[in-house]
Amino acid sequence: MKIKFKIKRYNPADHETAEPYVQAYILDVPEGMTVLEALLKIADEQDPTLSFRKSCRSAICGSCAVSINGFSRLACNTQVIPEFKKMGEMLIEPIANHVPLKDLIVDFTPFWKKMNKVNPFLTPYEGAEEKPVSNEDEESIDRSQRCIMCGCCNAECNALQIDEHFIAPAALAKAWRIVGDVREGNARKRLEKLSEEHGMWDCVRCVHCTQYCPKEVAPLKQIEMLRSAAIKEDILDNPGAKHVEAMADSVEKFGRLDEAAMTFRTLGFLKSLGMIPFGLRMEKHGKMPHPHIFPQIENIDEVKKIYEEIGKRRAAEKEGKDKEEKKG
Ligand code: SF4
Ligand code: SF4
Ligand code: FES
Repeated sequence: MKIKFKIKRYNPADHETAEPYVQAYILDVPEGMTVLEALLKIADEQDPTLSFRKSCRSAICGSCAVSINGFSRLACNTQVIPEFKKMGEMLIEPIANHVPLKDLIVDFTPFWKKMNKVNPFLTPYEGAEEKPVSNEDEESIDRSQRCIMCGCCNAECNALQIDEHFIAPAALAKAWRIVGDVREGNARKRLEKLSEEHGMWDCVRCVHCTQYCPKEVAPLKQIEMLRSAAIKEDILDNPGAKHVEAMADSVEKFGRLDEAAMTFRTLGFLKSLGMIPFGLRMEKHGKMPHPHIFPQIENIDEVKKIYEEIGKRRAAEKEGKDKEEKKG
């Protein structure tokens, strides 16, 4: 099957091609050919100047991430014909949220800097080597260990798109690998650091990282684990944790969200004043049902029962943890 490949080219070192442009190549594609194999064939037979990264060719090294028809994928585990049949074209570009260096190669320096920021190695407490690691303990960090550092999640991250300092999903997934390890001795300090600005609370839960990760790391799930661990550690003095607390209190009290009160509790009085025009617009469009005007939902007792049950479970969990610590 003959397929036209449209490939985004860019070579800042060459004055004639210093601006990105799209170049087309026609290729005879056999059944089963991957996008990486197609790129290699183009480079071999038509254009040796085409630049892209690759190594393992079997989805384990993470080097070949590119944007295929607008979505971040590994070139080596994406087959051309099914993709072409589904999308009707074959447009290959460098992954988003990364600065292109040449053709499909992007600068990974910010990716590694973010990874370094979470100190991706264990700092075991004294005696940690004797701590038994149960199946459940292992399971809780299992997915975060599958990361091959391909960058697809960061490329699709909406929070990173608007804030280049956001720590981003790949590093957060790695952070849970360490924080969630029962042998880690520095978990609380790590959680405090991750709760700062540009940290885990800046994720907007768009789920793209989980959707586009080729290794099922599910970074958003790992971010949720980090957030939950921070709340359990009472690391609450930051807008993200305050927002979660305000949300939980609002639902417990009214069975619905009190958007105005949540804003005040999340941002504090002064910063919230700047949100008033936005709040008025929300009110106008019926997006901000105010509990003082719209009271509690019907059957609020049912909601309160759920909260009582959660309270009981938390108390039991804490009692179990205290007992374990005493034993240790
Ligand atoms: S869920 Fe959060 S971390 Fe994942 S892509 Fe969306 S904003 Fe980024
Ligand atoms: S979490 Fe998934 S998408 Fe992100 S770098 Fe790791 S393997 Fe790639
Ligand atoms: S070449 Fe290694 S993951 Fe694609």
